[in-house]
Formats: sequence, structure tokens, C-alpha cells
Amino acid sequence: MPQLPRRTRSPSTRPVSRGWAWIIGFSIIALLTSCATSGGQAPSLLDPHGPAADRVALLIWVLFSIAGTVCVLVLLFLLWALFRRHSQENRPFNENRVIVVAGVIIPAVILFIVFGLALATTSYLSSPATTPRLTVNVVAHQWWWEVQYPGQGFATANELHIPVGQSVLVKLTSADVQHDFWVPQLNDKMDIYPGKTNTTWLQASSAGTYRGECAEFCGPEHALMNFMVVADPPAQFETWLAAQAAPAAQPVNESADALKGYQVFIGSSCSYCHAIKGTNAAGNYAPDLTHLASRQTLAAGTLPNTRGNLGGWIANTQGIKPGNRMPAYPLDAQNMQYLLDYLESLK
Ligand code: CUA
Repeated sequence: MPQLPRRTRSPSTRPVSRGWAWIIGFSIIALLTSCATSGGQAPSLLDPHGPAADRVALLIWVLFSIAGTVCVLVLLFLLWALFRRHSQENRPFNENRVIVVAGVIIPAVILFIVFGLALATTSYLSSPATTPRLTVNVVAHQWWWEVQYPGQGFATANELHIPVGQSVLVKLTSADVQHDFWVPQLNDKMDIYPGKTNTTWLQASSAGTYRGECAEFCGPEHALMNFMVVADPPAQFETWLAAQAAPAAQPVNESADALKGYQVFIGSSCSYCHAIKGTNAAGNYAPDLTHLASRQTLAAGTLPNTRGNLGGWIANTQGIKPGNRMPAYPLDAQNMQYLLDYLESLK
């Protein structure tokens, strides 16, 4: 039988090699940078801007501190066991007591505290911190958000406004599959099911735009199903509400080109799916476009709402968000410019 080559030195006895030191160093840096926040585009639970998110962040830090402390203590005991002197090894040692105290009593106390904290947080999140200023209905679609303000009688899409410092009740349902409503900087997640209404609430402590996202896989464009929550100072919020409740701008008051664009819109199949209040377009299958130009993004947070992006979206929806329900609508260059003039007038 051939002899296996003899290992002269076991690698495990070598000091940590430089390669491993680099790997560990880079892992730590990657971990730390993944926690960094970069404005509203990368919303983080650890950057809360409302009472509910404050509680969630507090729970995260408490759990992290407890887990960190336990981890450090276990490592210290491990090091102590590895390096204690031989003279100590023969001392009498009551293993049973260690098992009962460190393995049963201490974990039980810690789990009891964690359970209590989680229950308290869940209970706090279950109802709004203050009496809700209004109710917003959100209907999740593959892959966009229908937003209705029933008290004010209007609908918008992929963007909801709330007044700073006041809570807003959000009633959630789905038009198709399961989705999940999540604004990490304002509250925790809430599942959305077809045929059922779940309720959550939003409250922001400072003005700003908070990015929300669908947090449940719902099909190929799940990752492009985002929305914006804009927290306005109360007076500005009332102005926004009044402006959104008004019918669309009349193209005759805008420009001759906008009027031609309106005719392109009404004469095409756009109006079968989209509604524009104050016109004959009353489709309810796709986002309401009454005040399209007032929104920050297109295609559920996929593109900034600019003229170029809007034109690109209409001409090539499937290239930008493959599988979405809007067919591309090829128009000649002149009619496309008219249509954009009209859509851009819908402030
Ligand atoms: Cu909707 Cu994921």
C-alpha cells in the first residue's frame, strides 16, 4: 500500500496567516459599510424618522447589545478554558451548577426580557401614536401602488403625502398577489393579501421624502415596486390635498401643443387603462394620471419623473421594466412631443 506523504506541520498550529487577516479585515469593512445610509434612496431601519420606527430601532439596538454582550462573554470563557494554567485544571469544578446557571437560568432570563420587549414593541406598533388625521387606502398591484384618499375623493399612484407630526391610517389590500408595504424609516412591514384589508399607520417626525418598497416577492418586477412617502409641514400638506383633489389642468389653458397632446391621449388606447379627472379618460386598470407631473418618480420609483424618462417609458416600457402590464406605445416623434407637453401640464 502506497504511503501517504507525511505532513510535517499542521496548518492549524500556524499563526493566523496574512491572507486570513485580509479576508477578515475586508469582511468587517463590508459589514460596516453595508450599514451606512445614503439619503432617502437607501432607507435604513437604523435611521428612523417617526415614533414607530424609533421603537423598532430601539428594539434592534437592545437586541444587538444583549447578543453582543453574550457573544463577548462566551468568547472570554472560551479563551479562559483554552489558556488557563495546568495547575488550575485539577481544582474541583461543579459542572452541573455551570450547566444549570449558564445553560438554563441565564438564557431563560434573557429570553424572557427579549420576549417582553418584543411584545411591548408589537403592541406599540399596532395602533397609531396619535389620533389619525386621515385614512389612505393603498391597493398593491403587480408592480405599482394605487393610493386613494377617500375622504378627499381622489387617487394617485406610487406616492403618498402625510402631514409631519400627525399619524395617517393606511388600509392595505391587493388587486392580485401577496405584497408587503414597508417604509423602513417610518414603520415596520405589513403584509398585503388579496381579498383582505390590513391596517398600518405612518407618522413622520420631520419633513422629507421617505422611500418605501414592496417587501414580499411578488413576481419578476418585485424589485421595481417602490413608492415615496412625502412628509409635508401641515399647511403645505393641506395645499397638496386641495391641489390633488382638483380636476386636471385644462389643455386649452396650457398651450396649443398641450391641446394636441390631449387629443393624442384621448384618441389612443391610453384612456382605456388610465384616468384623468376632468376628461373622458376614466380607465381604472393603471395609475391615475390627473396630477402625474406633480409626482417625483415614474413606474413605481423606477425612474425620476423627467420629460426624457417619460418619453422613454411610453416608447419602451418593456425595455425599462420587463413584464409590466403597460404595452409600449410607439408614436411618431411629433405626436410624442405633443403628448409629453400635455402630460407635463398635469401638475
Ligand atoms: Cu409587490 Cu413585491
